[in-house]
Amino acid sequence: MAEQRNNGAVPRRKRLLTGLRPTGKYHLGNYVGTFEKDLELQNSGEYDCFFLVADFHALTTGYETSREIGDDIREGVLDFLAVGIDPSRSTLYLQSLIPEVSELFLLFTMLVSANRAQRIPTLKEQVRDLKLDSASLGLLNYPVLQAADILMVRGEVVPVGRDQLSHIELTREVARRFNQLYEPVFPEAEGLVGRFPKLPGTDGSPKMSKSLGNTILLSDTAETVRKKVMSMYTDPTRLRATDPGHVRGNPVFTYHDAFNPNHEEVQDLKARYTKGRVGDVEVKQKLVAALNTFLEPIREKRAELERQPGYLEDVLAEGSRKARVEARVESMA
Ligand code: TRP
Repeated sequence: MAEQRNNGAVPRRKRLLTGLRPTGKYHLGNYVGTFEKDLELQNSGEYDCFFLVADFHALTTGYETSREIGDDIREGVLDFLAVGIDPSRSTLYLQSLIPEVSELFLLFTMLVSANRAQRIPTLKEQVRDLKLDSASLGLLNYPVLQAADILMVRGEVVPVGRDQLSHIELTREVARRFNQLYEPVFPEAEGLVGRFPKLPGTDGSPKMSKSLGNTILLSDTAETVRKKVMSMYTDPTRLRATDPGHVRGNPVFTYHDAFNPNHEEVQDLKARYTKGRVGDVEVKQKLVAALNTFLEPIREKRAELERQPGYLEDVLAEGSRKARVEARVESMA
């Protein structure tokens, strides 16, 4: 096909958007689940990146503790910037500072039936996990609000956790419906899942999660990381270092795979572990070293940002100003 010239204009870069629920400090599971992908795509230079702090989304379940949300936003944004999200290249903004998101959400609620929203699998999970009697309208509308986030900036690529793919599907339906009924304004977004969609917890349960208390935080000190790793769950069938051990399903090795860049060392440890030629202590000590090497630059960056009063507020205010311009662009058709 002939190269598209676009009347001499530079072709528009693809739009990337993703949202973060501000739940306070983030952990290693958040990193390999989505942050890593966000960073990679930001740094590739191929995307126009929008990252939104979804404070309304956090309220759908955290409305009773809404006073804490300011701190949660602060801690979360510090982590997000510390891993390398760069406000001079990407637009980082706060959902509630863009009234147009709420307006678009309201309009989209007309296009989604209550039945359709009730069939979204994350809804049942939330109701079950949070032991709710039934879902609030806010919670039912959670994915519709997410569609408004994405479509407001006409996002095409959306890095998300695997459980969020059903929300991206709904976003595509809303876009199609809108485009058919009115004007072809919105693209159909595509979800992108990270390298380790589910990192196990330090206790061996399938998911690292704050509510389970099995996390390693991006801001943990080297000593905290050491303590957490040294008491991690390993292979329960292995009683002595000379017993052959299991590598699969062993979170210590999953973390090695995710965070230890020295593949030879990891292969060697796995080989010796399955033959009963290495103790858990050595495997864990090497993991502590790898994790602290990975986390050290993040901690340093975080500390540097914390020393600049008003910095976060400025980043969010400036990003929200830019995002708001997007919201006000007239029809793209
Ligand atoms: N629901 C997402 C989560 O829980 C957060 C989110 C809000 C989001 N708005 C978004 C993700 C828009 C992608 C796009 O992780």
